Amino acid sequence: MSTQLTPILTKFWDDPQSWTLETYEKHDGYKALKKALGMPQADLVQMTKDSGLRGRGGAGFPTGMKWGFLPAPDGGPRYLVVNADESEPGTCKDIPLMMAAPQFLIEGVAITSYAIGCNHAFIYLRGEVVHVYRRLLRAVEEAYAKGYLGKNIMGTGFDLDVTVHAGAGAYICGEETALLDSLEGRRGQPRLKPPFPAVAGLYARPTVVNNVESIASVPPILLHGAEWFSDMGTEKSTGFGIFSLSGHVTRPGQYEAPLGITLRELLDMAGGMRGGKKLKFWTPGGSSTPLFTDEHLDTPLDFESVAAAGSMLGTRALQIFDETTCVVRAVERWTDFYAHESCGKCTPCREGTWWLKQILGRLEHGEGSEEDLDKLLDICDNILGRSFCALGDGATSPITSSIQYFREEYLAHLTNGGCPFDPRESSLFAKEKATA
Ligand SMILES: Cc1cc2nc3c(=O)[nH]c(=O)nc-3n(C[C@H](O)[C@H](O)[C@H](O)COP(=O)(O)O)c2cc1C
Ligand code: SF4
Repeated sequence: MSTQLTPILTKFWDDPQSWTLETYEKHDGYKALKKALGMPQADLVQMTKDSGLRGRGGAGFPTGMKWGFLPAPDGGPRYLVVNADESEPGTCKDIPLMMAAPQFLIEGVAITSYAIGCNHAFIYLRGEVVHVYRRLLRAVEEAYAKGYLGKNIMGTGFDLDVTVHAGAGAYICGEETALLDSLEGRRGQPRLKPPFPAVAGLYARPTVVNNVESIASVPPILLHGAEWFSDMGTEKSTGFGIFSLSGHVTRPGQYEAPLGITLRELLDMAGGMRGGKKLKFWTPGGSSTPLFTDEHLDTPLDFESVAAAGSMLGTRALQIFDETTCVVRAVERWTDFYAHESCGKCTPCREGTWWLKQILGRLEHGEGSEEDLDKLLDICDNILGRSFCALGDGATSPITSSIQYFREEYLAHLTNGGCPFDPRESSLFAKEKATA
């Protein structure tokens, strides 16, 4: 067994009642907030910059730098909004974290709010996860009761209210400006930028929007120091992150490890491929990031190395597919998702994702022609870089990368007059298959 895991945010998920404030306090909970409230705010922003922490919501923007973009206080409100929408296919880290150890996030919210001069923070949660909503509400209630939120926190004169808001369930509401529109009560659609949220965000006031894992990483950094964090990971992708392994893996789940670890190492820890089968393709950062194959097993999973190999680290959502999987079918499913979730604001994505879905559907059923592959690439070319937000770009990733690596498999659907794979092979577990 490799010893590369760095359990920090996942350290006590196995404790009984890991989600309570009492358990969190046993694991140094709220010591970081106490320390923060005795520090100048600017030092907290500098410490976050020094740690090298980069946004864990996908784009990897430096967190401390984002906080530093807020204009000087003008006496009016400024906000922290936590992006807890987690809807990218394959991404499964924020929701388990909020279920297992929500106080990491609440303490992170309190420290960040103090650092940026915010007295009212919001957590915007994906609408469907009612169990997480209940858990967060309870966690916030416990923090208020203990004086970690509310008026005059720890006698320092710092006031903070936290509102947990559940959306109605739309992938686009994870895009930070669509999230802000939704939080304000409007239909969630991306806003034109600039102005960026740092200047005019929630209710047109200066706002920091950060991912759950980014904010939850702040208390450990404060407790152990910026250098402790930056010593982990790689030079430009510092620290640890939660990698979620799903699909054809023996032990799927959340593996917290330094950035720069490889899929080969993670698979070793996860018991290897399901049933000893061969790896065929995988996503390094969710379905919006170009596919990788077994050629990339040793690519370090940090922002730079994954980009150099032609994909994106995204949210470290490693969806793993073995040789029984039809790549055309998998890509068709993802494309259905993007067509359904397209918010309709801009033409390339609204119309393009619909056409992509039609063409992939007929290819999967062996009814298309070879020209359809060029048509797919042409439509992708008209979406990528021409859409209003990154949802459109993301929709093209599985298509262009699958044609790059598996063109022959697309063509095999045509010569075979349909899909050459038995979908039960990839979707059922051995025990179920025996009785099917
Ligand atoms: C379609 C779409 C969906 C997104 N969904 C999420 C999400 O669920 N959670 C998240 O943190 N960021 C999501 N993002 C990225 C956010 O726009 C933003 O970059 C992020 O919340 C910033 O936080 P960070 O700097 O801490 O990563 C999404 C972006 C797009 C384009
Ligand atoms: S790219 Fe898609 S999701 Fe984004 S604004 Fe355009 S239509 Fe909406």
